[in-house]
Amino acid sequence: MLHRSARHDACDDAVAPLGKEMAGRAATGDIARVEMGIGIRRADGPIGAEIVGVDLSRPVSDETFAAIEGAFTERSVIAFRNQTIDERQHVAFSRRFGELEVHVMQQYLLDGVPEILLVSNVQENGRPIGLVDAGQYWHTDLCYEPTPSRCSLLYAREVPVREDGTVLGDTMFASAVAAYDALPEAMKRRIAGLRALHRYGDRYDAMRSAGSGRDAMTAEQRERLPGAVHPVVRTHPQTGRKAIYVNEGLTVRILDLPEDESRDLLAELCAHIIRPEFRYVHKWQLGDLLMWDNCAVQHCAVADYAPPLRRIMHRTTVRGSAPF
Ligand code: OGA
Ligand code: MN
Repeated sequence: MLHRSARHDACDDAVAPLGKEMAGRAATGDIARVEMGIGIRRADGPIGAEIVGVDLSRPVSDETFAAIEGAFTERSVIAFRNQTIDERQHVAFSRRFGELEVHVMQQYLLDGVPEILLVSNVQENGRPIGLVDAGQYWHTDLCYEPTPSRCSLLYAREVPVREDGTVLGDTMFASAVAAYDALPEAMKRRIAGLRALHRYGDRYDAMRSAGSGRDAMTAEQRERLPGAVHPVVRTHPQTGRKAIYVNEGLTVRILDLPEDESRDLLAELCAHIIRPEFRYVHKWQLGDLLMWDNCAVQHCAVADYAPPLRRIMHRTTVRGSAPF
């Protein structure tokens, strides 16, 4: 275990002046070691880490970026605490990971910054300003597209706080890589080569039927998203590891199987992936920039808050490649 002063020194080595201050504030736990100039505090379990000593409002050097990308690839979910960034800085940092997507529900994009999707329960003039209940089911982002997302970066601008100070609206993650590794060999053989259909509209409509305040999808939006077929087991483009790539929220069915077998197998795989030992639960703080690897994890937003508590999140979504 590092002493507090040693920890500060270690972080100070590598970061820009403003970053020093951030590191001092954020380093309340143990940083296992400082790697290539950034502090990495790993969560228990296979995924999740806090990156310490980086100020995202400033340009990130190539060396620091390489360290961040390395930590991200290893841990699949990483958090930068106490960040004060504007939309441009959020977009600029996101772009380091690839080209950005513009979400199909244009009415929920940030004015003037179409790369940012508003995820919020806040209402203005009787209408939600953003996608009000985004991701309140297990899913990966854009799995219903032919080229799903590589990663998403979510920035907390307002978080719902209960009277006793507890922050609500956790986001849960589960490692589909660790889940694949833990499958019995017979199941690995059974699902090898299977393909599944993913589609956005099915879940969207189901959320609306269940009372969501979302606008209905237009015919045009529906047409833009006819669905996509991907392998049930995908190979991670950076690590080469295998991951289960079906989810409860957006996978409609496994092709190549009779309907009832598809339903049962989907239910079995989806229940397996979200077992507690594969999870990381993110407890939000104002100013968190959290990013996750859509090729390696699934996530689910916990809906345990409601107005007058307000939640405003800004999401950027980095394009990925076709799963293989
Ligand atoms: C998302 C999402 C989860 C959350 O933005 O992709 O699923 O906790 N959000 O807001
Ligand atoms: Mn999501």
